[in-house]
Amino acid sequence: MTDKAKTPANEMWGGRFEARPDQILEQINASIDYDRRLATQDITASQEHARMLAAQGIISEADSAAICEGLGRVLAEIEAGEFEFSRALEDIHMNVEARLKALIGEPAGRLHTARSRNDQVATDFKLWVRARIDGDIDALSALIAALLGQAEAGADLVMPGFTHLQTAQPVTFGHHMMAYVEMFGRDRSRLVDARARMNESPLGAAALAGTSFPIDRHRTAQALGFDRPAANSLDAVSDRDFALEYLSAASICAAHLSRLAEEMVIWSSAQFQFIRLSDQWTTGSSIMPQKRNPDAAELVRAKVGRIMGALIGLMTVMKGLPLAYSKDMQEDKERVFDGADALGLSLAAMTGMVRDMRPVPDALRAAAGAAFSTATDLADWLVRRLDMPFRDAHHVTGSLVKLAETSGVDLDGLSLQQMQTVEPRITEEVFAVLGVDNSVASRVSYGGTAPDQVRAQIARWREQENA
Ligand code: ARG
Repeated sequence: MTDKAKTPANEMWGGRFEARPDQILEQINASIDYDRRLATQDITASQEHARMLAAQGIISEADSAAICEGLGRVLAEIEAGEFEFSRALEDIHMNVEARLKALIGEPAGRLHTARSRNDQVATDFKLWVRARIDGDIDALSALIAALLGQAEAGADLVMPGFTHLQTAQPVTFGHHMMAYVEMFGRDRSRLVDARARMNESPLGAAALAGTSFPIDRHRTAQALGFDRPAANSLDAVSDRDFALEYLSAASICAAHLSRLAEEMVIWSSAQFQFIRLSDQWTTGSSIMPQKRNPDAAELVRAKVGRIMGALIGLMTVMKGLPLAYSKDMQEDKERVFDGADALGLSLAAMTGMVRDMRPVPDALRAAAGAAFSTATDLADWLVRRLDMPFRDAHHVTGSLVKLAETSGVDLDGLSLQQMQTVEPRITEEVFAVLGVDNSVASRVSYGGTAPDQVRAQIARWREQENA
């Protein structure tokens, strides 16, 4: 035969091919530049597959031992940075197998029995995503701990609460921190849910239809830490829900991070001065010597774009794909890698900033009392003491706010006589409710901003976190 028979188009699948692929095909087809990040998962899954094949009598124990030992050497080479990745070998699966063949010879060819790259890649990728979910769960716990620390220190610290970013009612800094504890707590539970749902092994689904070899999918599932094998081979190789679910949970978490980041940007501005970030978490300007920029907070605010972009990108890849595997699905990995990296970095940066941030009590208190922030307390007092319907009390308070505004004072700057021109039944006692400390202390409803309520929530969280 020709030379081509001696140098097949591809050493893995080139049997029926005579010519090498076009160079552009090789370029568009290769995923090795990024899926090398699956090397550890690929090798671990292959070792378990080989052990199972031997236990089932499908390959010999000697071959299995040679494969497992050889794969260990391949991994060592990769970890040492000595491995030569080849684009012609497309992806991590074939790069590893080709190297295994070079190292151990014939037994390497038996590893791919009763398996396909389709179930292989689904397994590797799931293991990767699962490990990242575990890391993110821990990172969220660290962030929650940092927020609880700030909440405890700031349980009595009054600050303005906002709606529409307009001063609304006084709240406490601790209460504000605890709002984020709730949000990140939900993010963590979404990841826990996603992990439980995804934890089924695709390995052994083979190309799409299962295999005629007497494999033991329960064994490999268990060895790889899965709860069970995936029950439908077509679904097992074509399912990327785990990646989509991870990215959607990551997107919601990143959206939360962006909100806290935005508040840090606003709060650390010269106009607000509610918090200070140290030198460790701010940068200078190359032209304006006075500047202290919250770059990390701004970047955390921005990273949500990458993470949501990854979700939309992958959703678009998966939409309309017929069962089972299609090469389109190779486009899953870069999205998820990029989104996961962005989330991991954002969580670490946010935890660092939350630990670093120092609230400025005087500025918070001054702002808490400004802009008629206790107007609702005044209206509530009129309801309670004068038995006014709330709507009327709202109206009277509105007139008092207008009077204060035209007099150039805040509500507690009005004299009793001035107030009585609007509502003659008002007494001296009203001034007590106009103070911000009384205002927050009065909000004792469950989940409200009263320091005792906030402390109760902190205690509940602490107990749960330490359980
Ligand atoms: N590199 C491929 C991917 O990431 C592996 C699976 C290839 N399967 C195939 N039938 N060509 O999706």
